[in-house]
Amino acid sequence: MPIESKPNTSAPQADLNRLPLEIRRGLYETIFRRRDMREFRPDPVPDEVLARVLVAAHHAGSVGFTQPWDFIVVRDLERRREVKRVFEEERLRNAEQFSGQRREKFLSLKLEGIVESPLNLIVTCEPDRFGPGVLGKTAITEVEIYSTCLAIENLWLAARVEGLGVGWVSILRNECLRRTFGIPKNVIPIAYLCIGYVDSFPSRPILEKAGWAERLSPHRLLHFDSWEHRASDDQPLTRLVRDPEIWRDIFPGEEAGSKDGPEWKQAPQLRK
Ligand SMILES: Cc1cc2nc3c(=O)[nH]c(=O)nc-3n(C[C@H](O)[C@H](O)[C@H](O)COP(=O)(O)O)c2cc1C
Repeated sequence: MPIESKPNTSAPQADLNRLPLEIRRGLYETIFRRRDMREFRPDPVPDEVLARVLVAAHHAGSVGFTQPWDFIVVRDLERRREVKRVFEEERLRNAEQFSGQRREKFLSLKLEGIVESPLNLIVTCEPDRFGPGVLGKTAITEVEIYSTCLAIENLWLAARVEGLGVGWVSILRNECLRRTFGIPKNVIPIAYLCIGYVDSFPSRPILEKAGWAERLSPHRLLHFDSWEHRASDDQPLTRLVRDPEIWRDIFPGEEAGSKDGPEWKQAPQLRK
């Protein structure tokens, strides 16, 4: 039996607090145009731009407003070469998870820009920064890590609007990062990021272009009221997340469903 029978489109409060159209469009567009990048131009990143991006990161939500993150700005080439060495070792270990053509494909991918990018950034997390008592932390102990990931997503989006590419490198070892950068034991390295200007941002994830993986259709990820009650087409929401029409007010005049357009234009309709 369908749980919802009618689309819930009659939101009388829809305009109250809603931001102007250009801002809404800008936000969605930034989300769809964000990319993980691995190739960078050598041009330096002005401190003023980096400062804006870092402040945006710092405005993420955090459990109990603990702001558990720190940012290590890495320009030193020797340390970056050391990180690259660790990456090369870990890349081979990562390759062992795959076999045959999949492994060959993996080994053909460029998965970092540690030395080419003008700037690396480590985002860390210090749990219990203000002592063991944390508003919002009981049985779920990783909440500061979740918070730090939100700061990273903010940073990624802010970098995109500044025209800066960001590439997350996780094919590393935290104990090596601790050693190379003097990170204390109680602080967890969360993200090693390569940052810099890029020639252009691809319209789709680089791994998708390389044929490694595809974006899942969002309707397959929906459940209603319990895990076992997966989405089915008799629920309006299931159809709407695939319907280009939900974007008509945000992207008026965009040609819905254009197969040739960049993914950020296609993203609203995604593949069915
Ligand atoms: C936690 C995390 C770790 C990642 N590690 C790597 C990595 O080591 N190397 C890499 O090339 N991309 C890495 N990525 C980037 C993903 O491959 C990328 O986000 C994904 O392919 C989707 O592409 P998009 O970010 O352009 O949408 C990582 C992303 C996340 C969120």
